[in-house]
Amino acid sequence: MDKVKVFAPATVANVGSGFDVLGFAMEAPGDIIEMNKSDKEGINITEMISEKPLSTVTEENTAGMALLAMYRAKKIPFGVELKITKGVNPGSGTGSSAASAAGAVYALNQLLNDEDKFSDKELVDFAMDGEIVASGARHADNVGPCVMGGFTLVRQNEPLDIVAIPAPDELYVTVLHPEIEIKTSESRAILKKQIAMSDAVKQWGNVAGLVAGLFTNDYELIGRSMEDYIVVPTRSLLIPMFDIMKQNAMNNGALGFSISGSGPSVFALCKGKENAESVKKALIETIEKTELAYNIHISKVSSEGCKVID
Ligand code: HSE
Repeated sequence: MDKVKVFAPATVANVGSGFDVLGFAMEAPGDIIEMNKSDKEGINITEMISEKPLSTVTEENTAGMALLAMYRAKKIPFGVELKITKGVNPGSGTGSSAASAAGAVYALNQLLNDEDKFSDKELVDFAMDGEIVASGARHADNVGPCVMGGFTLVRQNEPLDIVAIPAPDELYVTVLHPEIEIKTSESRAILKKQIAMSDAVKQWGNVAGLVAGLFTNDYELIGRSMEDYIVVPTRSLLIPMFDIMKQNAMNNGALGFSISGSGPSVFALCKGKENAESVKKALIETIEKTELAYNIHISKVSSEGCKVID
């Protein structure tokens, strides 16, 4: 195979209580990575189609950094050219940097001979290098589900220990992206460095409850376990109408409501598409009371991660 076209999905990281450890893949939107082998050495990002300007310099680009990690790990006897079409808005909090990084390493893996191919877990590890560009930290809660699909739990970042978790069939997400800018690096910098034991106890109860709910198809347990006591109280202050959106989503039957990744997107988990639609309506009514531009998506929690589309 000399060329490949890959879809890399948007992802929701943290999922409320699981800061830096939980995440899941959406069906759409996603980035498209078109890659071909090249006689020219190294990585050449030839085109970037994006609403916001993004660097095509390899070391300044999340896909470029992730690919560099892959080239360092193995002697790959060809260079690559790639075109990135951003479907996941940069700075939205829905795994934009992760989609490009994960999509790029997944695409390069397709171009390798079978005996040289890396495992999904190795691809996640390479894609984590891309996250350094966006957030200054190697975290796998977006790149994990982006490569592997479904829900993932990052038990440990270094060395990476990541586990796939099943999700109930009728689990949907409504994601609203209010168009304000929150940089992941800044939204990490404002977090408290120390937390109270009482908050930690509530938090790990919830992370465990969320995972148990996913395994047992217990939608109510999933919803009440999404509550976060450590990160959301600080970050939610950056998001206009957060508390009102949460209240309106919950009043309209959402299982739980929180910030997607580092924001500004917010999301509600819902049982069934119909419920996700009523939550969407309630969120639109709320956000339209502001002057903010926004976009909103409904998706099933997708069992698929990156995939070849051509
Ligand atoms: N877990 C990360 C954070 C996700 O919340 O900062 C960033 O996309």
